[in-house]
Amino acid sequence: MSSLQPISLIESLSAQHDRLSAIGQQHLLTFANQLPVSKAGELLDQLAALDVQNLPKLIETYVRNKPASAAGTVIEPLNAYGLDNSVGGMPWNRDQYERRGIELIAAGKVAAFTVAGGQGSRLGFEGPKGCYPAGAVSRQPLFACLADWIKAAQARYAKPGVTIPWFIMTSPLNHDTTERFFIEHNYFGLNKADVTFFRQGVMPSFDMETGKILLAQQHEVALNPDGHGGSLKALHSSGAIAEMRKRGIEQICYCQIDNPLVRVIDPVFLGLHVAAPDSSGEMSSKMVRKASAGEKVGVLRKVDGKTAVVEYSDMPPDLTTAKLASGGLKFDAGSIAVHIISVAFVERLNSSAAGFSLPYHRAEKKVAHIDLHTGHLVEHKHNNAVKLETFVFDALPLCKSSIVMETDRVEEFAPIKNASGPGVSDSPETCTQLQTLRAARWLAAAGITVPHHADGVPNCTLELTPHTAIYAKHLADPASKAILPESIEPGASRVF
Ligand code: UD1
Repeated sequence: MSSLQPISLIESLSAQHDRLSAIGQQHLLTFANQLPVSKAGELLDQLAALDVQNLPKLIETYVRNKPASAAGTVIEPLNAYGLDNSVGGMPWNRDQYERRGIELIAAGKVAAFTVAGGQGSRLGFEGPKGCYPAGAVSRQPLFACLADWIKAAQARYAKPGVTIPWFIMTSPLNHDTTERFFIEHNYFGLNKADVTFFRQGVMPSFDMETGKILLAQQHEVALNPDGHGGSLKALHSSGAIAEMRKRGIEQICYCQIDNPLVRVIDPVFLGLHVAAPDSSGEMSSKMVRKASAGEKVGVLRKVDGKTAVVEYSDMPPDLTTAKLASGGLKFDAGSIAVHIISVAFVERLNSSAAGFSLPYHRAEKKVAHIDLHTGHLVEHKHNNAVKLETFVFDALPLCKSSIVMETDRVEEFAPIKNASGPGVSDSPETCTQLQTLRAARWLAAAGITVPHHADGVPNCTLELTPHTAIYAKHLADPASKAILPESIEPGASRVF
């Protein structure tokens, strides 16, 4: 069916045809002449947004070829600010840094920032992952768990009238659903004015064999979010950084959406980030000791003297399994994807005249697309497409000097990534177990009797909210003590 098209539309289609032909992507207009005017207009808008200047090089480098990740010449383990309050054999003063961090929060210089634009396909959950019920007992959604941390930090540390604004990066694919979820839940008790959503950028999906951009519909390019590395550009282009400056924000506490135990605002980490002698205060990271060589986490290391993360899938096998003389893993600093990033650092990256670019990472995926001959949608059983993403941690080597703080995984690393199943890690089930384990540990340390099975696993399900305690020591506060029982009954499910 053809539809009559206004002259201006025909001219625009012709201009796009020239532009796309120059880079061998004119097939994107295969159905353009048969589209109703409004759909043709939508397609033209998407085509106009394609970066035709850089696409050919990207396709050649990352789609037609599989570039090896830049290795660097000297790769060494790094010294983190350790759980034992030492770094590289020297002591560090946790209390002093905690006080420094609290000063920043009290003065309103700190914002929370969550990247929530991912597609969460491994979990098999329809909709934004932040809507997933994650509270061990309350089953409250991940967004609510994080909102609780922000409200609790605000109540505990901020001066009256000072707030901790929350910036949330969505993707064009889940933006509206995410915003609706917040409206439906009354912003989880936060002020609407203190919650800002902004969209990350997108990249086209490419046919793995030919490098041609795929069509998701006859009038729609197949697009995917451009990775959480896109946040460093989107923070700037969306106006979020300008809004932060207006509010007097200096430091951004970055976290992912998948971890209900994440200490969204951590005074000790903040203090180290801004005041540790070897920190440039630009971007810092948190780590846990890897549970095993095969654990699927990024690894923090020094590469040519700079702090850097390599994703587990890019880590050479001999380094993944390399051992120290003591028998421990040589590279055991697992990234939990928690960072603090300064507003000034994001501004510096975005202010360079040449722009800045993080390396792309190639992911092979199954992407349904329109067959150019039949015009029908084709599904694939095997990977047929390449998606390109950038990773936020690739900005670490752009810092002058970047520090790492170690944390204990039971304290703050219980991500939900996979659907539950026997032996499956990072699942809703392991997340509930870890929430219970942390609560049991803190409650026992506060003198409360917690029932355990013979194998040492708590015989109860527990959820300890940040309103009650951000650190274990807060259970000694009179207000917290007042709500705690002397003991917990076996088999109980309790929220404190
Ligand atoms: C991530 C890290 C890994 C780290 C682990 C800790 C990467 C590539 N790997 O793995 O090094 O050890 O977490 O839990 O990041 N997101 C966006 N936009 C996107 C893509 C992702 O906002 O375009 C967000 C997601 O919503 C999520 C986070 O980034 O909050 C992580 O994304 P995901 O791709 O699931 O990384 P992981 O494999 O979990």
